[in-house]
Amino acid sequence: MTELSSETRFLHAVEMGLGAMQWGDRVVWQYGYGYGADEVKQAFESSLADGIRFVDTAELYGNGLSERLLGRFLKETEQPVLIATKFFPWPWRFTKGAVPRALKGSLSRLGVESADLYQIHWPSPVMSTDLLMDGLTECVKNGLARTVGASNFGHARMLAAYSALARNGIQLASNQVHYSLLNRAVEKKGVLARCKELGIRMIAYCPLERGLLSGKYNEQVPPSGSRARKYTELLPKIQPLLKLMTEIGQDHGGKSSAQVALNWVICKGALPIPGAKNAEQAGQNAGALGWRLTEEEVDKLDYESELILESTTTTQ
Ligand SMILES: NC(=O)c1ccc[n+]([C@@H]2O[C@H](COP(=O)([O-])OP(=O)(O)OC[C@H]3O[C@@H](n4cnc5c(N)ncnc54)[C@H](OP(=O)(O)O)[C@@H]3O)[C@@H](O)[C@H]2O)c1
Repeated sequence: MTELSSETRFLHAVEMGLGAMQWGDRVVWQYGYGYGADEVKQAFESSLADGIRFVDTAELYGNGLSERLLGRFLKETEQPVLIATKFFPWPWRFTKGAVPRALKGSLSRLGVESADLYQIHWPSPVMSTDLLMDGLTECVKNGLARTVGASNFGHARMLAAYSALARNGIQLASNQVHYSLLNRAVEKKGVLARCKELGIRMIAYCPLERGLLSGKYNEQVPPSGSRARKYTELLPKIQPLLKLMTEIGQDHGGKSSAQVALNWVICKGALPIPGAKNAEQAGQNAGALGWRLTEEEVDKLDYESELILESTTTTQ
């Protein structure tokens, strides 16, 4: 791996974060039904108590509500929290100035002066990678963002972003991508290896495959909402993997499937940011820290997940 830049080194020391997409999102997560502001506040507090202090949000989540809730929780804690948020590339945003402008909106909802990590949520349909990176550069130069990163950038686009920022004297801090035992595209396409080589922190979203890897869903008990449709093909196939995860968890003193799933991501060299709707989920996810799967266990999990992925046609 290349030598890490002093600005982005802190991200490589973060083992796991907390995803805040659930905080306000009704479409995928049904915020307001079965959980709400009190429960997500407890998830936040439980995570801090367990030493997890990196929170990932976005202006898109709950149409700004996730950032506003996080801002409220930040005011009520003395503890230092690392904040990552994201720029959404709406097609009507087409100048580099749109990037720092959007960040100012996020910062005002968060009630802070700067973000620790500002990410481009998705490639833009109208702005080139160079232009987006120039926008991120302004955010760093104006002191609005400590570091900057990408999200959902494929291999080639990530390299283009890395080079564009390097020309401005800035390191691409991270690429946030879908990565779990049930979605290993980034591993296959060489994104993970390239991240390690270039000192880019790979942040893994959906590390629990939206709850599937907790083991609580099956064909008879599918997840609710849009997840049910998304996972119709996958759900009947995952039992052998879940069985192996349970066995491996037992060998580590009774670790849950969710903890094994998150530990696998960490062992692969990425930073998982599991979403949690309440303190119970957050607390359980924190139990993925402080121990490690053996290399042999990682290999066994790789093999079992590969069998499922090879026979699956839909992408998650
Ligand atoms: N950059 C991007 O494009 C992008 C896309 C997606 C997500 N993200 C980020 O990544 C974060 C994580 O991804 P995600 O939230 O979509 O998926 P995830 O972390 O794989 O799954 C989170 C969901 O799994 C269930 N769960 C969590 N912990 C559990 C536990 N210990 N036991 C049982 N169930 C548990 C909960 O849902 P139920 O209780 O309803 O099952 C929770 O909402 C998001 O919060 C967001 O910050 C980024």
